[in-house]
Amino acid sequence: MQVIIVDTPEEAGRVAAEEVAKVIRRVGPGVVLGVATGSSPLTTYEALVDIVRSEQLDLSQASAFALDEYVNFPVDHEQSYTETIRRTVTEPLALDPARVHLPDGLADDLAAAGAAYEQAIREAGGIDVQIMGTGSNGHIGFNEPGSSFASRTRPVKLAAQTREDNARFFDSIDEVPEQAMSQGLGTILDTRTVVLIATGEGKADAVAGIVEGPVTAMVPGSILQFHPDATLVIDAEAASKL
Ligand code: GLP
Repeated sequence: MQVIIVDTPEEAGRVAAEEVAKVIRRVGPGVVLGVATGSSPLTTYEALVDIVRSEQLDLSQASAFALDEYVNFPVDHEQSYTETIRRTVTEPLALDPARVHLPDGLADDLAAAGAAYEQAIREAGGIDVQIMGTGSNGHIGFNEPGSSFASRTRPVKLAAQTREDNARFFDSIDEVPEQAMSQGLGTILDTRTVVLIATGEGKADAVAGIVEGPVTAMVPGSILQFHPDATLVIDAEAASKL
């Protein structure tokens, strides 16, 4: 695991975007991106747009797979991950919307929808570079503490801490969905490259656990210690407990 410590979230975005761009340049137009919601990757997406424009990288054939989506939540709601990815990734990077995928949180059979999502990732050739953040409890995607290391895309229950953290996007905590569909830790371990961005002191405990703690299901991001090509880009505050 490579850890890069920078001064500000903006710098984290620039450094993380360069890590992502290296993969895009190497793989070429058919690159398969793993994308995530949350505030952590926003500066990365902005910096990536600048790189893509200035180098005229061709993303017209690129595809993208999101880590997660809420269950039983309207996809046209502004806080759905479908809308969030459209706003922050698909449109700014001018990706083909037909090639941008999210797990189906509205399926009658969520387990089958999870299996279909895994199949779609396999058919695309696997994820070349997964961009992501981490929750304050060390979750990645919506793999909450206690998730199996072998887990694949499936319905999960959100931790109380996660619902509290995400309440800021809603009028009240009661509106925060209780379930989501999330890629599993096994799915994430299969990606070829991971770029995780964490900023702010609220992430300091999670970062310490991910980087220096024992590999444990209680800090799901700690499985990245087993990933062959994972880079963490963190600011000084998120690094304060290392
Ligand atoms: C949600 C997402 C995670 C994300 C986390 C952190 O829980 N499912 O993928 O890492 O939020 O969000 P933020 O970056 O806003 O702190």
